[in-house]
Amino acid sequence: MQDTTRNQPASSQNARPWRVLVTGTAGFIGFSLARRLLADNHIVCGIDGMTPYYDVALKHRRHAMLRESNNFSAHEFMLEDADAVMNAAKAFAPDAVVHLAAQAGVRYSLENPRAYIDANLVGTFNVMEAVRVTKPKHFMLASTSSVYGGNPDMPFGERDSSDQPLTLYAATKKATEAMAHSYAHVWNLPTTAFRFFTVYGPWGRPDMALFKFVDAILKDRPIDVYGEGRMSRDFTYIDDLVESIVRLLPLAPKMGERAAAGPDSLSGSAPFRAINIGGGEPVGLMTYIETIEKHLGRKAKKNMLPMQTGDVPATFARADLLKSLTGYKPNTSVDEGVKRFVEWYRAYHGV
Ligand SMILES: NC(=O)c1ccc[n+]([C@@H]2O[C@H](COP(=O)([O-])OP(=O)(O)OC[C@H]3O[C@@H](n4cnc5c(N)ncnc54)[C@H](O)[C@@H]3O)[C@@H](O)[C@H]2O)c1
Repeated sequence: MQDTTRNQPASSQNARPWRVLVTGTAGFIGFSLARRLLADNHIVCGIDGMTPYYDVALKHRRHAMLRESNNFSAHEFMLEDADAVMNAAKAFAPDAVVHLAAQAGVRYSLENPRAYIDANLVGTFNVMEAVRVTKPKHFMLASTSSVYGGNPDMPFGERDSSDQPLTLYAATKKATEAMAHSYAHVWNLPTTAFRFFTVYGPWGRPDMALFKFVDAILKDRPIDVYGEGRMSRDFTYIDDLVESIVRLLPLAPKMGERAAAGPDSLSGSAPFRAINIGGGEPVGLMTYIETIEKHLGRKAKKNMLPMQTGDVPATFARADLLKSLTGYKPNTSVDEGVKRFVEWYRAYHGV
C-alpha cells in the first residue's frame, strides 16, 4: 500500500528545495515545468541543445525567462555529447532528473527519422548513464500516448498493449521506456515514465495543431484538417500537466509499494512505473476548431484532408493511476485552455 503521507506536492510548504536537473528546458514542457519548480523555490539546472526543429528564437525567449531566477542555470549542448551530459550531472548532483528533451512530433518522424534515433535513443542513453552515476532519488522521463499506437481499446490504461507503435517517434519512446526499465532493474534506480496526451497551452509548440490553426486563422490562411475532422484527442492543459509532474516528483516508485487504489503499472522486477498524464475527456477535432474560432472571433477556412500516415484516429487516457497516486488529475476544460492560449498568442505576437 502506498504511504499517503508521501502524497505531498514537492511545493508543499515544509518541503526542502530539491535540485532538479531538467532536460529540454528551452522546450514547451521543460520550460513550463522549470518555471513552476523555480516558483516553488527549487533549484533547476537545464540542458537544451536548441535544435532547429522549430523557431529557435522562441526557445531562447523561454530560456531567457528562466534565467531571471538565480536558482536557474543552463547548459546548451546536445544530449548526444555523452561527456557533456555526465559532467553537467556530476557537477549539479541532482535530487531528481526529469528528462524531457527529445525529438518530438509524429509527422516529422517520416521526414527525418535519424533525428529520433540520435536524440531519443542515444540522448536518452547518455542521460540514463548520468542517472546511474549520480543516483538521484527519482528519474522521470517523457513518453507519449503514441505508444498505444493502433490499439482500438479505449480509454488506454498503462497496462494495455503498447507494443505496436505506428511511427518511429512512438517506437523510440517505447524503446526509451524499455531502456529505462532495464536500468531501473539493474541499478535500482526509481523511475517514472510519463505518457503525455497532446499537451497544449501558452508558450506551446509552433508545430502543433493549436499554434498552427491560430496562426493560419489570424492570417486568413486555410487550415489543414486531417482525418476529415473525424479525429479526437485527449488534450492536456500545460499547467495541469506540470501540476501532475510536481506531485509525482516526491513519489519515487518502490518495489512492492503499489498505488492505494485501482490497477498499478508498477513493475514486478524494478522500481519503475509508467503513468498516463491526460484528462480522460477526449474532444473531437471539429469541436476543438470551433473553440478556437470562438476565442479568436473568426471563422477558419478549412482544407479537409484524409488521415496522414502514422496518425491515430483517437487518444483517450485512463487517468486513474495518476489520481490514485497524487489525488489529482488534469481538469482544465478545453474551452478555458484554448482561451488562455489565444490570449498568450496575441500578447506574444502583438496581434
Ligand atoms: N507536447 C506534447 O503534446 C507531447 C506529447 C507527448 C509526449 N511529449 C514529450 O514530452 C517531451 C517534451 O516535449 P515538448 O512538447 O516540450 O517538445 P519541445 O520540442 O518543445 O521540447 C524539446 C526540447 O528538447 C530539445 N532537444 C531536442 N533534441 C535534443 C538533443 N538531442 N539534445 C539536447 N536537447 C534536445 C529541443 O531543443 C527542445 O527545446 C518530449 O520528450 C516529447 O516527446 C510531448
